[in-house]
Amino acid sequence: MAKVTILGATGNVGLFAAHTISEIPYVSDMLLVGRPGREDFLAGCCRDLSDSFAARGTDVRLSYSTSLADARDSDIIVCTAGVPRKPGQDRNDLAFENAKIVAETARTIGQVSPDAILFVITNPVDVMTAVALKYSGLEPRQVFGLGTHLDSMRLKSLIAHYFRVHVSEVHTRIIGEHGKSMVPLWSATTIGGIRIQNLPTFSGLPTQEMIETVRTSGEAIIRDKGATVYGPGEAIATLVRTILGNENRILTVSSYIKSEIHGIGDVCIGVPARINREGVFPVAIRLEDDEIAGFSRSVAKIQKITAKVME
Ligand code: 2OP
Repeated sequence: MAKVTILGATGNVGLFAAHTISEIPYVSDMLLVGRPGREDFLAGCCRDLSDSFAARGTDVRLSYSTSLADARDSDIIVCTAGVPRKPGQDRNDLAFENAKIVAETARTIGQVSPDAILFVITNPVDVMTAVALKYSGLEPRQVFGLGTHLDSMRLKSLIAHYFRVHVSEVHTRIIGEHGKSMVPLWSATTIGGIRIQNLPTFSGLPTQEMIETVRTSGEAIIRDKGATVYGPGEAIATLVRTILGNENRILTVSSYIKSEIHGIGDVCIGVPARINREGVFPVAIRLEDDEIAGFSRSVAKIQKITAKVME
């Protein structure tokens, strides 16, 4: 059984992630960590969450703290700590401010929980994953970011709706930045196991419109309701379950790729990766020419922002 710690647990995403993670059967202990002064709010979160356990037959041991040192001996640490986007902001506008928070957090995690898997949600998530990797001193397999898994979920839903099929029949991936330069892999998209390009109706698919909808989805939700919660919260639980269940699924998350190995890289960015109890292992894949061009642009963009933040 496993201990999962959520940092930034008093924020919108952290709060809902606590709910979704508490439903995972492998989780025995969950620690909610917030800033000093938020003790009462954290106590209320634990009480409120515990009330839901009776309905679900959950018996997770819940606790809270305002000290990162209590994250000791965690199996997974989910970092949602940081300043959230405001309406109209780009995720990269948060890079310098959140890098300070994530660097400080990662440094402590490397000391108190060196065997943990550090799962970064804080935006801009690709850059924050690189900051967490550098300052935690953990191995690349131990540090990853939510990245374009959430974008891939969004595209999956749009395709399922368009073709009027069950969402589980759609497999698709978006790679690159969790942001405007993201790249949809139509070449790796299938419906019922059939390549989407092999469907006669593919030629009429509004691919540009669809990807634009995904690109701006986070921004639109923040504009309309202040924060994205349910999408990230469920995405987080999927990845925590994949790790704790040692499932070896291949999902698209922000992980460290090295140019020597992947032919492109020295960056943390959304790529397909095999995920299990040991962590995250990027999978080298062959891309179509247009996908390579888009991915290279995305890598260059994130490398530039990461370099500036790390100066
Ligand atoms: C989103 O797109 C939180 O960046 C995340 O909802």
